[in-house]
Amino acid sequence: MEYQLCPSILSADFNRLGEQIQTLERQGLKWLHIDVMDGDFVPSISFGMPVIQSIRKESNLFFDVHLMITEPERYIQDFAACGADSITVHAEACEDLERTVNRIRDAGMRVGISVKPATPVNEISYLLHNIDMLLIMTVQPGFGGQEYIEDSTEKILQARQMLKDEGADIPIQVDGGIDEKTLPIVLEAGASWIVAGSYLFCGDLAQNVEKARRIMNRYTEKI
Ligand code: DX5
Ligand code: ZN
Repeated sequence: MEYQLCPSILSADFNRLGEQIQTLERQGLKWLHIDVMDGDFVPSISFGMPVIQSIRKESNLFFDVHLMITEPERYIQDFAACGADSITVHAEACEDLERTVNRIRDAGMRVGISVKPATPVNEISYLLHNIDMLLIMTVQPGFGGQEYIEDSTEKILQARQMLKDEGADIPIQVDGGIDEKTLPIVLEAGASWIVAGSYLFCGDLAQNVEKARRIMNRYTEKI
């Protein structure tokens, strides 16, 4: 299993975004988690294409774009054009989830499906063979810095079982409330792609990445 630490720039200092991305690259990380919010699917608004396009010029990180927007299908070409490597959409946000997944793939990107805390994972089981990852939200989507929802651990275990039953060899990504206390819990439950925002960006970024890496190294050598 490939493990990845995916820093979420939602908690970055946008006045120093380029510098902070360079720090992540120097630390040897490969992924950048980019949260796009529309003020409709979630209450908050974050940022969109111009920011992604701008950081794409300076970074070779894998851009993991998490769309918390209603009907994301409308914007697939735009996100492809501004440099997304992967797009994750919410099952709850799409009128036709399968068509949306196919369109992302047709646009040449990897594709993930995300479920909110109240959405059972088995609702998307019919698409498991058509996606590259399953994102389990471990907080309500919309804001950084929230507390991990305890029930998520059981949901990760259920997802792991479902993937096994379906013979689908895709990673489970988790997003929200990950810190030094919850990181071992989600890894133990079966998550391998770990999004972390405030845990990494609040305080010294390089040191925080090292701390997270040390915890993850107990599970793998691959990050
Ligand atoms: C929340 C976003 C997350 C957010 C996580 O809706 O999808 O990616 O940045 O923030 P933390 O790690 O601070 O909970
Ligand atoms: Zn996210």
